[in-house]
Amino acid sequence: MTKGIQIAIDGPAAAGKSTIARMTAEKLGYTYIDTGAMYRALTYCALEGHIDIYDDEALSRLLDELTIDLLPSPQGQLVKVDGTDVSDAIRSQEVTASVSAVAAQPEVRRRMAEQQRRLASSSGVVMDGRDIGTAVLPEAELKIFMTASVEERAERRYAENVRRGISSTMEELCEDIRRRDKADTEREASPLQQAADAVFIDTTSMSIGQVADTIIRHAEERMGQ
Ligand code: DC
Repeated sequence: MTKGIQIAIDGPAAAGKSTIARMTAEKLGYTYIDTGAMYRALTYCALEGHIDIYDDEALSRLLDELTIDLLPSPQGQLVKVDGTDVSDAIRSQEVTASVSAVAAQPEVRRRMAEQQRRLASSSGVVMDGRDIGTAVLPEAELKIFMTASVEERAERRYAENVRRGISSTMEELCEDIRRRDKADTEREASPLQQAADAVFIDTTSMSIGQVADTIIRHAEERMGQ
């Protein structure tokens, strides 16, 4: 096979992007990059360092000082900051509540996008986020825009939280998803938007395997072209 293509997967919070992107990358032997984890890692470090999550300049400086590594492991993707494993810490309620503010800062986004482009340059890649097809990898050979109803997304997040031992209620999760949808779509700096050439997939009544298979079918079509 040749070098491999770039697959950009975008969509709202808790649409199952990470699980599906990881599965697709595994099946194709590609690198998987969860860009949300990068914003979460920066948010976690900002909270730990008592840095104002609305201060674009201070956050950008912090980002420059950090080394964020995304490493594949049998339990899923490990996220390390300066060598310390923060994979669980970045999923906390505190980080989830603050990450939209950090992700809305234009200079933070510009620097993140630069790092993400560098990570995507070496081989076949599946990258998931909010602005991958529109801003980070506008030349990606395959773009997917994936969504599901708010209730379905809350149910999936609830099941994931139970697995991770995080306590939450469906009401809280629906509210959090609505709030993040609003923040992600209404921010000025590269808001969540479907790229004009993206394939739209509503995953509400699809299994994870069905969605991954659909993406792989599209990827094989693109590779054949
Ligand atoms: O996918 P996630 O829930 O882990 O993403 C965390 C936050 O980061 C979410 O509020 C949206 C933001 N994000 C973004 O703005 N751009 C990306 N490429 C990825 C995530």
